[in-house]
Amino acid sequence: MFRATIPLIAFSFVLALTACSPKPSEEPVASTESITSTYNPARDYFTFSNTDQFVTKHLELDLTVDFDARQLRGSASLNMERISSDAREIILDTRDLTIETVNITVGDNEATAASFELGETHPVMGAPLTIKLQGNAESASSLDVKISYRTSPDSTALQWLPPGLTAGGKHPFLFSQSQAIHARSWIPLQDTPSVRITYAAKIHTPSELLAVMSANNNPDAARDGEYEFEMPQPIPSYLVAIAVGNIYFSPIGEETGVYTEPEMLEASVYEFADTQTMLETAEDMFGPYRWGRYDLLVLPPSFPYGGMENPRLSYLTPSLLAGDRSLVAVLAHELAHSWSGNLVTNATWRDGWLNEGMTSYIEKRLMEVIYSTERADVDNVISYHELLLDFDNVSPERQALAPPFETGDPDDFQGTIHYHKGNLFLQYLETNFGRETFDAFIGQYFDDYSFKTITTEQFLDYLDKNLLSANPGIVSRAQVEQWIYQPGLPDDAIIPHSDALDAAAALAKAWSADEISIDQVPASDWAPMVVVHFINNLPDDLAQNRLAEVDGALGLSQSKNAEIARTWFIQVAQRRYEPAYKYLEIHLNRFGRTRLVKPVYAALAENGEDLDLARQMFENARGLYHPITIASIELALKLR
Ligand code: BES
Ligand code: ZN
Repeated sequence: MFRATIPLIAFSFVLALTACSPKPSEEPVASTESITSTYNPARDYFTFSNTDQFVTKHLELDLTVDFDARQLRGSASLNMERISSDAREIILDTRDLTIETVNITVGDNEATAASFELGETHPVMGAPLTIKLQGNAESASSLDVKISYRTSPDSTALQWLPPGLTAGGKHPFLFSQSQAIHARSWIPLQDTPSVRITYAAKIHTPSELLAVMSANNNPDAARDGEYEFEMPQPIPSYLVAIAVGNIYFSPIGEETGVYTEPEMLEASVYEFADTQTMLETAEDMFGPYRWGRYDLLVLPPSFPYGGMENPRLSYLTPSLLAGDRSLVAVLAHELAHSWSGNLVTNATWRDGWLNEGMTSYIEKRLMEVIYSTERADVDNVISYHELLLDFDNVSPERQALAPPFETGDPDDFQGTIHYHKGNLFLQYLETNFGRETFDAFIGQYFDDYSFKTITTEQFLDYLDKNLLSANPGIVSRAQVEQWIYQPGLPDDAIIPHSDALDAAAALAKAWSADEISIDQVPASDWAPMVVVHFINNLPDDLAQNRLAEVDGALGLSQSKNAEIARTWFIQVAQRRYEPAYKYLEIHLNRFGRTRLVKPVYAALAENGEDLDLARQMFENARGLYHPITIASIELALKLR
């Protein structure tokens, strides 16, 4: 039913129980020169489109949302500019689309029907749609291609939720997730981050539902089933997004607000009350927010990610609604993408660290200013430990920030390496050059590359010219290349540290060694992420009765905090602490965010006893999950 995922690296976020020792690999390294001779770092290997011959400038969508057929149908019109005079065809990306007609218009001429062909389907890339150019289209410098089409109920970008899987339980819900290469499963287009388009859309829905998009949402729109949108800033295809449901709006600040089902509206406004402050803080640090409004959409529980930075409308998982604002780093992260990623975009998925690493860095900076240095330190250390776990699971060649990437699936590529190694790299630059110099550099970078895409190699040259050479004798290009092309971490990487987490780890050890009693562990005073670190520092050989003791005292099995629950149930599964299995199963059925559930299944599958049980639990929960999450769990449970 779902597209086969071909993993490049089978990464899992957390597999080991205790923090493992940092062992940056000492394998031979790839330098800029030694990247495989045929590998072209400027090329996007995950599109069929002939972007060297034509590029899309603008997209017009006219789509009807049919919940009964689980189908979008209508048309996409692409305004395209010719780059190469001898090009006689246009190739677009599609996946599982039914193409009805293709019409081409040149200037003021009548539209003419064009012949087209859908090529063979590739398991990751989908099928190329080749459109033949004839007559004046053969030489026109600009043309409009209008494609009438329908999506499949199995579109990998679209999740069609029945009412039972929503908060209200009365209306169906539809949302898209286009990143990395799923836009092609709901729109035929050049599906590569290297091409930027503006778009306009007419969306027809059942009249009681509201449609929102990554565009100029109007909080006061009449709810009549006919919605029009415009995205006037050019964006890459992976940022085109839609959602339709029983969605309502509530303001947070002047330019910020939240959309969600009415049942989650109040909790969302409370949880994300700092959105406007975050936006203003980010502007102070990194320059103007260039997108108009900034709103949030809190999705039903099956949303597969923590957040997705759809421009003007970040998508967020409802698992962030902890009631205490303890998980808002994800919001800071998605907001930060308004600069790193949405304004300046990675040219290919191999350059993803420019999106995710830079965003993780800014996220921490925002957390520091809005909350405290201590809170940012806690997040830094937790991220660092996740990175160390990943180094254990990723081959040395793939530990580079930007290794060659020509096969596999962009959804599975890089994981924490792009995020946390990228963050440590930028923190390293900040520490070495000083915050003032580094911030000026970053601000200039966002200006110089605004609404553009950038490859790792272009960034390296830009960094060399504007930071390294402009401030000589501090960090060499060779040192930077080590971060970008070599495995592990350089010896002079700055390892994050948190006093609060050190204290929690020490208490975990002391309590496990019976040196203190459980009521001397002040867990009720701790921030949830400190509890996470405490759990992760319990020794491997802790007896089952001690697990019962800590569970009872800290209320771990019934924690309402999704990160605490995730951490605890990974431990429960690794240690086969069976008294908590019924709560573990409740956790698996609460949210479909991949990060929360996949590592728990993986830990069950790998504890030597519970693979069948894990498969059984997965079969029971599967209907709650998104196709992306299902694909990832199936891998962990060796079902594919
Ligand atoms: N853009 C990503 C989500 C994504 C990555 C979708 C790769 C598809 C392919 C988003 O900004 C993100 O990083 N989300 C994280 C947030 C966390 C790191 C704070 C998530 O979902 O966990
Ligand atoms: Zn991100």
